[in-house]
Amino acid sequence: MYREIAKGVYYVGVDDNHTQLFENLWEIPFGVSYNAYLIVDDKVALIETVKEPWTDELLENIRDIIEPEKIDYIILNHMEPDHTSALPLVAEIAKNATLIYTKKAAAMQKSFYDVPLKEKLVEDLEEISLGSKTLKFVHAPFLHWPETMMTYLVEDEILFSCDAFGAYGALNGNVFDDEIDLDRVERESKRYVSTIITSYLKFVQRGIAKVKDLGIGIKIIAPSHGPIYRKDPMWIVQKYDDWSNPELEKRVVILYGSMYGFTQRVAMKIKKKLLDLGLDVMSFNLSYAELSNVITHTVRAGVLVIGTPTYDAYPFPKVWTFINEIVGKRFPKRPIALFGTYGWAGGGVKKVRKILEDSKYEIIEPVIRVHGRETAAEESEIDGLAKRIHDLLR
Ligand code: FEO
Repeated sequence: MYREIAKGVYYVGVDDNHTQLFENLWEIPFGVSYNAYLIVDDKVALIETVKEPWTDELLENIRDIIEPEKIDYIILNHMEPDHTSALPLVAEIAKNATLIYTKKAAAMQKSFYDVPLKEKLVEDLEEISLGSKTLKFVHAPFLHWPETMMTYLVEDEILFSCDAFGAYGALNGNVFDDEIDLDRVERESKRYVSTIITSYLKFVQRGIAKVKDLGIGIKIIAPSHGPIYRKDPMWIVQKYDDWSNPELEKRVVILYGSMYGFTQRVAMKIKKKLLDLGLDVMSFNLSYAELSNVITHTVRAGVLVIGTPTYDAYPFPKVWTFINEIVGKRFPKRPIALFGTYGWAGGGVKKVRKILEDSKYEIIEPVIRVHGRETAAEESEIDGLAKRIHDLLR
């Protein structure tokens, strides 16, 4: 299947309804699309390939328009294998094509695949002519890796934006924003941003500013995942701008693990106190909540409250995993309250505190440690902690 986006410009991407976990980490209940684009002018350019198992489908889509042997340029905005693992097979057919990418992408390409094609390394804002159409390459590092760029089709004002402005969710033939349920797109693109790009949120802001500064018209945004925005391309730009805004939201998220209910009981007591104080509160039991949803609802919350039992002298494994996400994804800094329970030897919450403090997160005092059931003194610490969180969010 292919769809014409503008005269001589085609969507030739594929849907993946097979992969259960994107990056083998994140649930994709609606699948995902790997978007590739073909421009047919005096020269023929393919922008992106797809994940390797879908190579035949990509080539069939191209073949419905033009013989893939006629491809002159393969433009790789990003080297992550969801967009490039088909490259070795495509290169066997498009033998005369020239790879176009950044210098950093070239080094990755050689280490990943080393296909026997010519290559052209493009500088920021460099242009090439396809005949009647011109491509301009806009370097956009860390959207989503250091080598990434966007490609702009000057005459048709189409921005091929790479992972930026992407979304989870297969397209099922409805490739445009005016053909698809935008409520679902909003949920799935927010979850996509939170899981894939949280570490690089400031680069989203920089990328948006750079494109605006170029003063180029944008009639269509064609990302590498999810729908193509032709009805209202600024809709998704505004959403990404909001989701990457460094200003945090005035809400609290409580995250905890619990084996036998002691930690959960403390979590619910804290939650009740915070609700009584009129705060906006969500809670997640990390044994059951799906991690991508937890991250999506947590990444911009103004205060986090994290509770763990001690397990083998360490934090509960599900809590440990989440702490690693906070640190690894470089969640924006915000105050974090901690509590823990233990039966015979504490230590879990102390290790959580250390790793968060080492990563420069401010810990709200007191850190509550409960041996078994909470005492009256610990009840009063919970009261004090709730009031402090309330004051921080005022
Ligand atoms: Fe869709 Fe970062 O690859």
